[in-house]
Amino acid sequence: MTSKLALLGGAPVVTECAPSWPVSGELEVAWMEAVVRSGQWSWLGPHERAFCSEFASFLGCKHVLLLANGTVTLQCSLQAVGVKPGDEVIVPALTWVATLQAVLDVGANAVVVDIDPETYCLDVKAAEKAITLKTKAIIPVHLYGCMCDMDGVLSLAKKYSLKVVEDVAHQHGSRWRNFGAGAIGDAGSFSFQQSKVLTCGEGGAISCHDEQVFETAFCLKHVGWKPDLATPGNRYGHNYRMTEMQAVLLRGGLRRLPEHLRIREENAFRLAEGMKKLAGPVRAARRDPRVTRQSYYALTLHYDEKKASGLPRSQYLTALAAEGCPLGTPYLPVYRHPLLNLYDATSPVPYREEIQDYRSLRLPVTENVVEKEGAILMHPHLLGSEKYIQQLLQAMAKVNDNLKAVKNFFAREGGSVKKGIKEE
Ligand SMILES: Cc1ncc(COP(=O)(O)O)c(C=O)c1O
Repeated sequence: MTSKLALLGGAPVVTECAPSWPVSGELEVAWMEAVVRSGQWSWLGPHERAFCSEFASFLGCKHVLLLANGTVTLQCSLQAVGVKPGDEVIVPALTWVATLQAVLDVGANAVVVDIDPETYCLDVKAAEKAITLKTKAIIPVHLYGCMCDMDGVLSLAKKYSLKVVEDVAHQHGSRWRNFGAGAIGDAGSFSFQQSKVLTCGEGGAISCHDEQVFETAFCLKHVGWKPDLATPGNRYGHNYRMTEMQAVLLRGGLRRLPEHLRIREENAFRLAEGMKKLAGPVRAARRDPRVTRQSYYALTLHYDEKKASGLPRSQYLTALAAEGCPLGTPYLPVYRHPLLNLYDATSPVPYREEIQDYRSLRLPVTENVVEKEGAILMHPHLLGSEKYIQQLLQAMAKVNDNLKAVKNFFAREGGSVKKGIKEE
């Protein structure tokens, strides 16, 4: 391919569009109108109850309860499985800051460990090294387009009597050996924030099998009441409830989810195979055969600077974005998130002496993924037509064939051009 790079004023390769996100349909509109007219807008209306049982059977667990977002779901899950102030909870270094915050906000200490270089999820060996007598729980985060090694996590949990709270904010519908993500550990924590593959704008859910975990989580989100709504529970609960209007959007989204999962898996496979054939600097993360269904919040990618004649990731991604293929980069390491600078001075949860010094942590695999190797393609692109997917691959092929021109362009610009597009 010899045509002029879009970066240099040529025509972009990608002419098709990715579908817009979020998606809704006439069913939600009709249900929503009925809810608005009914005046039953708050908690535990017919749509919320129906969604909880539909989502529980989709996941393969006994209970699902809806909460205000995927941060309070983590807080309540941790407390419901028995995490107490002063306990330690292991979290991966690459995740959204909420995973770590939730641990701190229930008074526990988050112990941050490095990630697996292939999946970017928690490294089970690193987690085992971090276990102490105070370790109470572990949070495997199924990040972007890969699941955490749940065999490894479950065997650690068994060996050291740990509770497992899965952070499933990115993986509605993934399956590990045919067990639904979120229904494998002691509790699952979902986010339904707008960017997620199942969404109602903002929202979250806890999934679990155990009656006691369910009852405690319910108490925590429903101002201390037990699920019968008549008996006071034994927990100092808050109001973390969701509205009936949100449940309408979730029910509609859940009906669409299996078909979306199928399309995204097919397109992820096409892209992975296509990139393999191109043999360029970008490849898809290898799929673990134990993952029997992968829900792609994003396609997890690896960038190899050496295969790009030393071209830094940001320059490659900028050239690719100009062609219409917008790859993003991963989160910051959670221990470098700016919010942590405010923790000591402004968190209502008192500072604890033994807390890990996050700001001085530098975990090598995480640093490399964040600074150099990691890239992602967000899920709406994976719902695109076959033609769109082929165009994304053609855009990569074009940039791969013109690496020298990209390098020269940035050398001329003195490296001052904006970095690659970042998506959460
Ligand atoms: C991995 C992960 N955990 C937890 C959350 C928190 O979810 P929410 O934004 O609904 O509070 C997010 C949100 O993006 C996330 O990506």
